[in-house]
Amino acid sequence: MLKRIAAIAVALAVVAGGGFLIYAWNPAITPIARPNPAAFPHDAVARGEIVANAGYCVECHTRADLGGGPELAGDYKMNTPFGALFSPNITPDVETGIGTWSEAAFRRSMYRGVDRDGAHLFPAFPFNHFTKMSEQDISDLYAYLMTRPAVHMTHRANTLPFPFNLRILEAGWALLFVSPGRYQPDPSHDAMWNRGAYLAEGDAHCGACHTPRNLLMAEKSSAPYDGAVIDGWIAPPLNAHNPTPVVWTEDELFAYLRTGVAPLHGSAAGPMSPVAHRYLGRIPESDVRAIAHYFATMDDAAHRQFQDAAALAAALKASGRDLSGPQHDAAVRLYQGACAACHYNAGSAPVLGRPELALNNALWLDEPNNLYQVMLHGIGASEGQSGIAMPSFYAGLTDADMARIAAYLRATRTTLPPWTDLEAKAAKLRAAVGPPPINASH
Ligand code: HEC
Ligand code: HEC
Ligand code: HEC
Repeated sequence: MLKRIAAIAVALAVVAGGGFLIYAWNPAITPIARPNPAAFPHDAVARGEIVANAGYCVECHTRADLGGGPELAGDYKMNTPFGALFSPNITPDVETGIGTWSEAAFRRSMYRGVDRDGAHLFPAFPFNHFTKMSEQDISDLYAYLMTRPAVHMTHRANTLPFPFNLRILEAGWALLFVSPGRYQPDPSHDAMWNRGAYLAEGDAHCGACHTPRNLLMAEKSSAPYDGAVIDGWIAPPLNAHNPTPVVWTEDELFAYLRTGVAPLHGSAAGPMSPVAHRYLGRIPESDVRAIAHYFATMDDAAHRQFQDAAALAAALKASGRDLSGPQHDAAVRLYQGACAACHYNAGSAPVLGRPELALNNALWLDEPNNLYQVMLHGIGASEGQSGIAMPSFYAGLTDADMARIAAYLRATRTTLPPWTDLEAKAAKLRAAVGPPPINASH
């Protein structure tokens, strides 16, 4: 009897495995001659450029290290917990790019994460979001890409070890974690909300950074927008778990996403900086407004906003107060010397360009990452608020100094429990981040 069960179990496994292989197998799509760029209508190309900006294609498909590379020609290095992955060339070059891809092949890659040859793509390519995009958007995007200059360039070899380098495994990953299919409008919300949701969930893939991931690096569908760590930064929660004392209203969100700075909340620095400046700054204002509307609904701003005036007054008061005393003296001196000149707000509202630290989420998040990141690298003139910079303290402050300032700000500007292991965390992040580039525009 037991043998029989074992035999059935093996048979089932074989059938399941066979089923999986059939599922995982995708035919190659016949290569085509490179489409004539003049054949694409101008308005399709113009719309496609907007779709490309809303999806940050240039960011991940342009080499950033080694002095940079040609736009969309690939070789952008992405660090995963398993090894480095380099993005492919998506210019219309016929040998090294996607010049021989038909629109059908391109659409399959965006919707299913499968390349023209039928191989599975790694989910560092956020096709779990792109699958929600409309056929019209994909078609316009194709027109845009096929009319870019063709660049002949290959990318460096991935350093993913076995078995993570096996593309066939991605089929199983996609089966578990990706629900293919277009965005379905939610009739309980208005058109603006649905437009915002369509963009945020699909093309603009905000969740790729703001949603925590499970052990297999898939976004946790049980915790959408609950905040996550990306490149040593914290992408804060965008839902009601956002710890800010003053809620993110639609106007604050719009200003932040459009210009890289929100009067009450501070600046878009680190990985968020290009999202605002390079990309959302270049799509129609109404689309950015729609995204802001979507997230203002998610964090329930309309119902929580009534507390803001009191929270603002309390924050400004906390900020003006300096808690001297044995445990803070050294920190107060450091803070006065290094930070206070630029972060002092005397009025009843913070001055734009002088972020009020008592309101800034760098102080309210569970970990000090973003505060340390800003101290270590400063904020370049093209990040955050355009034309305004904060100097780097990489050389000017030791790990112990940074820890002291962090503990002091957390204790005096927030009502939250102290951070722990501050000096060790400063040392760890400093090692990971490295010194600011010599030619930084600080
Ligand atoms: C977060 C980074 C990221 C973003 C944003 C991104 N891609 Fe990619 N893309 C990748 C990576 C990484 C790969 C390669 C995955 C692999 O090697 O399996 C890839 C693969 C592709 C491929 C397959 C190409 C080939 O030769 O196999 C296409 C097509 C593509 N991306 C198009 C786009 C478009 C269009 C956009 C913008 C809407 C975009 N990507 C945005 C990271 C990104
Ligand atoms: C490449 C990763 C990445 C992507 C993509 C991304 N974000 Fe962010 N986001 C971050 C990081 C990191 C921060 C923290 C920046 C800082 O503190 O200066 C941030 C900050 C924010 C903040 C400020 C939150 C706070 O409490 O301070 C908002 C709002 C925001 N992002 C919205 C969005 C929206 C909406 C999208 C999609 C349109 C998006 N982000 C896409 C990484 C990302
Ligand atoms: C020379 C002026 C100056 C000094 C000194 C300075 N800052 Fe800043 N800081 C700024 C400016 C300006 C910004 C906003 C930059 C932007 O938006 O481009 C900023 C932004 C910030 C932010 C907000 C980052 C975000 O993502 O919203 C934090 C946190 C911060 N500073 C902390 C500090 C700390 C801690 C010190 C002392 C170690 C300090 N600053 C010293 C000018 C300064």
